[in-house]
Amino acid sequence: MPYDFGKRFVASSARRQPGRVLPVLLDRLGADEAEEDAVQRLERRIAELLGKPAATMFPSGTMAQQVAMRIHADRRGVRTVAFHPQCHLEVHERKGYAVVHGLVGRLVGDPFGLIQLSDLAEVREPVAALLLELPQREIGGRLPSWDELVAQTRWARERGAATHMDGARLWEAQPFYGRSHAEIADLFDTVYVSLYKGLMGISGAVLAGDQELVEHAGVWRDRLGGSVERHWPMALTAERGLDELLPRMAEFAERARKLAATLAQQPGMHVVPDPPQTPMFHLHLEAPPTAVREAVRQLRDESELVPPSWVQSMPSPHLSGFEINVSDQFDGVTDAEIGDLFAGLLNRARAAA
Ligand SMILES: Cc1ncc(COP(=O)(O)O)c(C=O)c1O
Repeated sequence: MPYDFGKRFVASSARRQPGRVLPVLLDRLGADEAEEDAVQRLERRIAELLGKPAATMFPSGTMAQQVAMRIHADRRGVRTVAFHPQCHLEVHERKGYAVVHGLVGRLVGDPFGLIQLSDLAEVREPVAALLLELPQREIGGRLPSWDELVAQTRWARERGAATHMDGARLWEAQPFYGRSHAEIADLFDTVYVSLYKGLMGISGAVLAGDQELVEHAGVWRDRLGGSVERHWPMALTAERGLDELLPRMAEFAERARKLAATLAQQPGMHVVPDPPQTPMFHLHLEAPPTAVREAVRQLRDESELVPPSWVQSMPSPHLSGFEINVSDQFDGVTDAEIGDLFAGLLNRARAAA
Protein backbone atom coordinates (compact mmCIF):
# COMPACT_ATOMS: atom_id res chain seq x y z
CA MET A 1 0.00 0.00 0.00
CA PRO A 2 1.52 3.30 -1.06
CA TYR A 3 0.81 5.12 2.20
CA ASP A 4 1.74 2.35 4.61
CA PHE A 5 4.47 3.72 6.87
CA GLY A 6 5.45 0.27 8.07
CA LYS A 7 4.89 1.37 11.65
CA ARG A 8 2.59 -0.13 14.25
CA PHE A 9 0.71 2.38 16.34
CA VAL A 10 -0.30 2.46 19.98
CA ALA A 11 -2.25 5.63 19.23
CA SER A 12 -5.75 6.83 19.79
CA SER A 13 -7.22 7.22 16.32
CA ALA A 14 -6.55 6.91 12.62
CA ARG A 15 -6.70 10.67 12.04
CA ARG A 16 -3.04 11.07 11.27
CA GLN A 17 -2.59 7.71 9.63
CA PRO A 18 -3.41 7.99 5.93
CA GLY A 19 -1.97 4.50 5.49
CA ARG A 20 -4.95 3.15 7.39
CA VAL A 21 -7.66 5.45 6.06
CA LEU A 22 -6.98 5.60 2.33
CA PRO A 23 -7.34 1.86 1.61
CA VAL A 24 -10.73 1.96 3.36
CA LEU A 25 -11.86 4.79 1.11
CA LEU A 26 -10.63 3.07 -2.03
CA ASP A 27 -12.39 -0.16 -1.04
CA ARG A 28 -15.71 1.52 -0.37
CA LEU A 29 -15.79 4.07 -3.16
CA GLY A 30 -16.45 1.78 -6.12
CA ALA A 31 -19.40 0.15 -4.43
CA ASP A 32 -20.90 3.46 -3.45
CA GLU A 33 -21.63 5.15 -6.78
CA ALA A 34 -25.20 4.00 -7.36
CA GLU A 35 -26.20 4.14 -3.73
CA GLU A 36 -27.76 6.75 -1.52
CA ASP A 37 -25.54 9.64 -0.47
CA ALA A 38 -23.02 8.31 2.07
CA VAL A 39 -23.68 11.10 4.58
CA GLN A 40 -27.45 10.52 4.57
CA ARG A 41 -27.01 6.79 4.79
CA LEU A 42 -24.76 7.17 7.81
CA GLU A 43 -27.18 9.60 9.50
CA ARG A 44 -30.06 7.18 9.03
CA ARG A 45 -28.03 4.26 10.28
CA ILE A 46 -26.91 6.06 13.45
CA ALA A 47 -30.44 7.36 14.16
CA GLU A 48 -31.64 3.75 13.99
CA LEU A 49 -28.84 2.44 16.19
CA LEU A 50 -29.59 5.09 18.80
CA GLY A 51 -33.35 4.70 18.50
CA LYS A 52 -33.83 8.41 17.77
CA PRO A 53 -36.21 9.91 15.20
CA ALA A 54 -33.45 11.90 13.47
CA ALA A 55 -29.70 12.41 13.28
CA THR A 56 -27.47 14.80 11.41
CA MET A 57 -23.77 14.87 10.73
CA PHE A 58 -21.46 17.63 11.93
CA PRO A 59 -17.84 18.33 11.04
CA SER A 60 -16.92 18.00 14.72
CA GLY A 61 -18.27 17.01 18.09
CA THR A 62 -17.22 20.40 19.38
CA MET A 63 -19.66 22.14 17.04
CA ALA A 64 -22.41 19.54 17.49
CA GLN A 65 -22.46 19.72 21.27
CA GLN A 66 -22.31 23.50 21.51
CA VAL A 67 -25.24 23.68 19.11
CA ALA A 68 -27.22 21.07 21.07
CA MET A 69 -26.62 22.95 24.32
CA ARG A 70 -27.65 26.21 22.70
CA ILE A 71 -30.89 24.79 21.38
CA HIS A 72 -31.78 23.25 24.75
CA ALA A 73 -31.09 26.65 26.35
CA ASP A 74 -33.09 28.58 23.73
CA ARG A 75 -36.04 26.20 24.03
CA ARG A 76 -36.20 26.75 27.79
CA GLY A 77 -35.15 30.40 28.01
CA VAL A 78 -32.43 29.40 30.51
CA ARG A 79 -28.73 30.02 29.74
CA THR A 80 -27.17 27.71 32.33
CA VAL A 81 -26.03 24.21 31.39
CA ALA A 82 -24.60 21.71 33.88
CA PHE A 83 -21.59 19.47 33.27
CA HIS A 84 -18.48 17.90 34.78
CA PRO A 85 -15.52 20.23 35.46
CA GLN A 86 -13.32 18.18 33.12
CA CYS A 87 -15.79 17.65 30.30
CA HIS A 88 -14.70 18.42 26.76
CA LEU A 89 -16.72 21.65 26.57
CA GLU A 90 -15.02 23.01 29.65
CA VAL A 91 -11.40 22.03 29.01
CA HIS A 92 -10.85 21.69 25.26
CA GLU A 93 -13.15 24.11 23.44
CA ARG A 94 -11.82 27.54 24.43
CA LYS A 95 -15.11 28.20 26.18
CA GLY A 96 -17.01 28.22 22.88
CA TYR A 97 -20.24 27.48 24.75
CA ALA A 98 -19.91 30.86 26.51
CA VAL A 99 -18.12 32.99 23.91
CA VAL A 100 -20.05 31.84 20.84
CA HIS A 101 -23.39 30.80 22.35
CA GLY A 102 -23.72 32.96 25.48
CA LEU A 103 -24.19 29.98 27.80
CA VAL A 104 -23.17 29.71 31.43
CA GLY A 105 -21.49 26.50 32.59
CA ARG A 106 -22.50 25.15 36.03
CA LEU A 107 -19.70 22.76 36.94
CA VAL A 108 -20.89 19.75 38.90
CA GLY A 109 -18.86 17.35 41.03
CA ASP A 110 -15.23 16.57 41.80
CA PRO A 111 -12.86 17.19 38.85
CA PHE A 112 -11.16 13.84 39.59
CA GLY A 113 -14.28 11.76 40.18
CA LEU A 114 -17.55 11.02 38.43
CA ILE A 115 -20.60 13.22 38.96
CA GLN A 116 -22.74 11.80 41.80
CA LEU A 117 -26.44 12.26 42.36
CA SER A 118 -25.50 14.03 45.61
CA ASP A 119 -23.54 16.62 43.56
CA LEU A 120 -26.62 17.33 41.47
CA ALA A 121 -28.63 17.88 44.62
CA GLU A 122 -26.41 20.90 45.26
CA VAL A 123 -27.43 22.56 41.99
CA ARG A 124 -30.01 25.06 43.16
CA GLU A 125 -30.39 27.23 40.04
CA PRO A 126 -32.50 26.35 36.97
CA VAL A 127 -30.51 24.52 34.29
CA ALA A 128 -31.43 24.08 30.64
CA ALA A 129 -29.53 20.83 30.22
CA LEU A 130 -27.44 18.25 32.02
CA LEU A 131 -24.57 16.97 29.89
CA LEU A 132 -23.06 13.62 30.86
CA GLU A 133 -19.89 12.39 29.18
CA LEU A 134 -19.84 8.60 28.74
CA PRO A 135 -17.18 7.61 29.55
CA GLN A 136 -15.60 10.55 31.39
CA ARG A 137 -12.45 10.81 29.35
CA GLU A 138 -10.15 12.99 31.45
CA ILE A 139 -10.42 10.68 34.45
CA GLY A 140 -9.44 7.58 32.52
CA GLY A 141 -12.69 6.79 30.76
CA ARG A 142 -14.83 6.00 33.80
CA LEU A 143 -18.52 5.18 33.68
CA PRO A 144 -21.29 5.58 36.27
CA SER A 145 -23.34 2.51 37.12
CA TRP A 146 -26.59 2.06 35.22
CA ASP A 147 -28.65 2.91 38.31
CA GLU A 148 -26.68 6.10 38.86
CA LEU A 149 -27.15 7.06 35.21
CA VAL A 150 -30.89 6.48 35.42
CA ALA A 151 -31.10 8.51 38.65
CA GLN A 152 -29.07 11.43 37.27
CA THR A 153 -31.02 11.70 34.04
CA ARG A 154 -34.26 11.46 36.01
CA TRP A 155 -33.03 14.29 38.25
CA ALA A 156 -32.63 16.49 35.15
CA ARG A 157 -35.91 15.54 33.53
CA GLU A 158 -37.87 16.12 36.71
CA ARG A 159 -36.61 19.69 36.64
CA GLY A 160 -37.56 20.24 33.02
CA ALA A 161 -33.90 20.18 31.96
CA ALA A 162 -32.81 18.37 28.82
CA THR A 163 -30.43 15.43 29.08
CA HIS A 164 -27.55 15.37 26.62
CA MET A 165 -25.00 12.60 26.19
CA ASP A 166 -21.45 13.35 25.15
CA GLY A 167 -21.17 9.94 23.56
CA ALA A 168 -17.81 10.55 21.89
CA ARG A 169 -17.07 7.03 23.15
CA LEU A 170 -20.57 5.60 23.47
CA TRP A 171 -19.50 2.85 21.07
CA GLU A 172 -16.79 1.89 23.56
CA ALA A 173 -19.04 2.32 26.64
CA GLN A 174 -21.99 0.18 25.48
CA PRO A 175 -20.65 -3.30 26.41
CA PHE A 176 -20.14 -2.15 30.04
CA TYR A 177 -23.87 -1.63 30.42
CA GLY A 178 -24.85 -4.78 28.55
CA ARG A 179 -27.77 -2.84 27.06
CA SER A 180 -28.38 -1.73 23.50
CA HIS A 181 -27.18 1.65 22.25
CA ALA A 182 -30.82 2.67 21.93
CA GLU A 183 -31.60 1.74 25.52
CA ILE A 184 -28.73 3.86 26.80
CA ALA A 185 -29.60 6.71 24.41
CA ASP A 186 -33.21 6.61 25.60
CA LEU A 187 -32.11 8.27 28.85
CA PHE A 188 -31.02 11.29 26.80
CA ASP A 189 -32.89 13.83 24.69
CA THR A 190 -29.86 14.40 22.50
CA VAL A 191 -26.82 12.23 21.85
CA TYR A 192 -23.57 13.09 20.13
CA VAL A 193 -21.37 10.29 18.83
CA SER A 194 -17.95 10.54 17.26
CA LEU A 195 -17.06 9.18 13.86
CA TYR A 196 -13.33 8.97 14.39
CA LYS A 197 -12.48 7.76 17.88
CA GLY A 198 -13.55 4.14 18.36
CA LEU A 199 -14.74 4.02 14.74
CA MET A 200 -11.26 5.06 13.56
CA GLY A 201 -12.63 7.30 10.83
CA ILE A 202 -11.11 10.53 9.58
CA SER A 203 -13.20 13.02 11.56
CA GLY A 204 -16.77 14.10 12.20
CA ALA A 205 -19.71 13.64 14.52
CA VAL A 206 -23.40 12.87 14.48
CA LEU A 207 -26.04 14.53 16.66
CA ALA A 208 -29.25 12.57 17.23
CA GLY A 209 -32.53 13.63 18.81
CA ASP A 210 -36.07 14.63 17.94
CA GLN A 211 -36.83 15.73 14.38
CA GLU A 212 -37.39 19.39 15.14
CA LEU A 213 -34.24 19.74 17.22
CA VAL A 214 -32.10 17.96 14.65
CA GLU A 215 -33.41 20.16 11.82
CA HIS A 216 -32.77 23.25 13.93
CA ALA A 217 -29.26 21.95 14.69
CA GLY A 218 -28.64 21.72 10.95
CA VAL A 219 -29.46 25.43 10.61
CA TRP A 220 -26.93 26.31 13.31
CA ARG A 221 -24.34 24.03 11.72
CA ASP A 222 -24.70 25.84 8.40
CA ARG A 223 -24.60 29.24 10.10
CA LEU A 224 -21.32 28.26 11.71
CA GLY A 225 -19.88 27.19 8.37
CA GLY A 226 -20.10 23.49 9.12
CA SER A 227 -21.97 22.19 6.08
CA VAL A 228 -21.30 18.48 5.55
CA GLU A 229 -22.34 18.28 1.90
CA ARG A 230 -18.88 17.16 0.87
CA HIS A 231 -18.16 14.97 3.88
CA TRP A 232 -18.62 11.62 2.16
CA PRO A 233 -15.03 10.50 2.91
CA MET A 234 -15.69 10.95 6.63
CA ALA A 235 -19.00 9.12 6.30
CA LEU A 236 -17.41 6.21 4.44
CA THR A 237 -14.63 5.69 6.96
CA ALA A 238 -17.18 5.90 9.79
CA GLU A 239 -19.31 3.23 8.11
CA ARG A 240 -16.31 0.97 7.97
CA GLY A 241 -16.02 1.50 11.73
CA LEU A 242 -19.67 0.59 12.26
CA ASP A 243 -19.30 -2.54 10.14
CA GLU A 244 -15.95 -3.80 11.37
CA LEU A 245 -15.11 -2.21 14.72
CA LEU A 246 -18.43 -1.72 16.51
CA PRO A 247 -19.03 -5.50 16.75
CA ARG A 248 -15.60 -5.84 18.39
CA MET A 249 -15.99 -3.29 21.23
CA ALA A 250 -16.54 -5.88 23.99
CA GLU A 251 -13.44 -7.72 22.79
CA PHE A 252 -11.43 -4.46 22.82
CA ALA A 253 -12.58 -3.74 26.39
CA GLU A 254 -11.50 -7.24 27.46
CA ARG A 255 -8.13 -6.73 25.78
CA ALA A 256 -7.80 -3.37 27.54
CA ARG A 257 -8.30 -5.12 30.90
CA LYS A 258 -5.62 -7.71 30.06
CA LEU A 259 -3.19 -5.08 28.81
CA ALA A 260 -3.84 -2.89 31.84
CA ALA A 261 -3.11 -5.86 34.14
CA THR A 262 0.22 -6.41 32.37
CA LEU A 263 1.17 -2.74 32.61
CA ALA A 264 0.09 -2.37 36.24
CA GLN A 265 2.57 -5.08 37.25
CA GLN A 266 5.51 -2.99 36.08
CA PRO A 267 7.26 -0.78 38.63
CA GLY A 268 6.49 2.91 38.18
CA MET A 269 3.26 2.34 36.20
CA HIS A 270 -0.36 2.77 37.28
CA VAL A 271 -3.56 2.27 35.33
CA VAL A 272 -6.75 4.30 35.81
CA PRO A 273 -9.37 3.00 36.23
CA ASP A 274 -8.12 -0.36 37.44
CA PRO A 275 -9.57 -2.43 35.89
CA PRO A 276 -10.65 -0.44 32.80
CA GLN A 277 -14.38 -0.31 32.09
CA THR A 278 -14.04 0.38 28.36
CA PRO A 279 -11.33 -0.09 25.68
CA MET A 280 -9.94 3.21 26.98
CA PHE A 281 -7.82 3.73 30.08
CA HIS A 282 -5.09 6.02 31.32
CA LEU A 283 -1.55 4.95 32.05
CA HIS A 284 0.36 7.02 34.60
CA LEU A 285 4.15 6.82 34.59
CA GLU A 286 6.32 7.90 37.51
CA ALA A 287 8.44 10.34 35.50
CA PRO A 288 8.13 14.07 34.71
CA PRO A 289 6.22 14.94 31.51
CA THR A 290 9.05 16.90 29.87
CA ALA A 291 11.37 13.89 30.08
CA VAL A 292 8.63 11.52 28.92
CA ARG A 293 7.79 13.77 25.95
CA GLU A 294 11.41 13.76 24.86
CA ALA A 295 11.60 9.97 25.22
CA VAL A 296 8.42 9.62 23.13
CA ARG A 297 9.87 11.87 20.44
CA GLN A 298 13.00 9.73 20.23
CA LEU A 299 11.08 6.45 20.22
CA ARG A 300 8.71 7.59 17.50
CA ASP A 301 11.74 7.99 15.23
CA GLU A 302 13.59 4.87 16.32
CA SER A 303 11.02 2.21 17.02
CA GLU A 304 8.73 0.34 14.68
CA LEU A 305 6.08 0.28 17.42
CA VAL A 306 5.00 3.88 17.88
CA PRO A 307 3.88 5.18 21.31
CA PRO A 308 1.04 7.73 21.62
CA SER A 309 2.36 11.23 20.98
CA TRP A 310 0.17 12.98 23.55
CA VAL A 311 1.73 13.04 27.01
CA GLN A 312 -0.44 14.66 29.66
CA SER A 313 0.78 16.63 32.65
CA MET A 314 -0.69 15.51 35.94
CA PRO A 315 -1.46 17.33 39.19
CA SER A 316 1.86 15.90 40.48
CA PRO A 317 4.97 17.08 38.53
CA HIS A 318 6.45 13.62 39.09
CA LEU A 319 3.82 11.89 36.99
CA SER A 320 2.86 11.84 33.32
CA GLY A 321 -0.18 10.36 31.67
CA PHE A 322 -1.06 8.54 28.48
CA GLU A 323 -4.47 7.77 27.08
CA ILE A 324 -4.65 4.22 25.72
CA ASN A 325 -7.48 3.26 23.37
CA VAL A 326 -7.52 -0.37 22.37
CA SER A 327 -8.70 -0.87 18.80
CA ASP A 328 -7.79 -2.98 15.78
CA GLN A 329 -4.47 -1.17 15.78
CA PHE A 330 -3.50 -3.52 18.59
CA ASP A 331 -4.26 -6.67 16.61
CA GLY A 332 -0.69 -7.16 15.49
CA VAL A 333 0.90 -6.22 18.82
CA THR A 334 1.16 -8.29 21.99
CA ASP A 335 0.61 -7.00 25.53
CA ALA A 336 4.23 -7.93 26.30
CA GLU A 337 5.48 -5.76 23.42
CA ILE A 338 3.41 -2.81 24.66
CA GLY A 339 4.68 -3.43 28.19
CA ASP A 340 8.27 -3.39 26.93
CA LEU A 341 7.61 -0.23 24.94
CA PHE A 342 6.41 1.67 28.02
CA ALA A 343 9.09 0.16 30.27
CA GLY A 344 11.76 1.35 27.81
CA LEU A 345 10.13 4.74 27.64
CA LEU A 346 10.01 5.06 31.41
CA ASN A 347 13.65 4.05 31.81
CA ARG A 348 14.75 6.51 29.18
CA ALA A 349 12.72 9.34 30.73
CA ARG A 350 14.06 8.59 34.22
CA ALA A 351 17.65 8.48 32.99
CA ALA A 352 17.20 11.91 31.36
CA ALA A 353 15.26 13.54 34.25
C1 LIG B 1 -15.29 13.38 25.27
C2 LIG B 1 -15.18 14.20 24.02
N1 LIG B 1 -16.19 15.00 23.65
C3 LIG B 1 -16.14 15.75 22.55
C4 LIG B 1 -15.03 15.74 21.72
C5 LIG B 1 -15.01 16.63 20.50
O1 LIG B 1 -14.90 15.94 19.31
P1 LIG B 1 -14.32 16.64 18.00
O2 LIG B 1 -12.84 16.39 18.01
O3 LIG B 1 -15.00 15.92 16.89
O4 LIG B 1 -14.63 18.10 18.06
C6 LIG B 1 -13.94 14.92 22.06
C7 LIG B 1 -12.74 14.90 21.23
O5 LIG B 1 -11.69 14.48 21.58
C8 LIG B 1 -14.01 14.13 23.24
O6 LIG B 1 -13.01 13.35 23.65
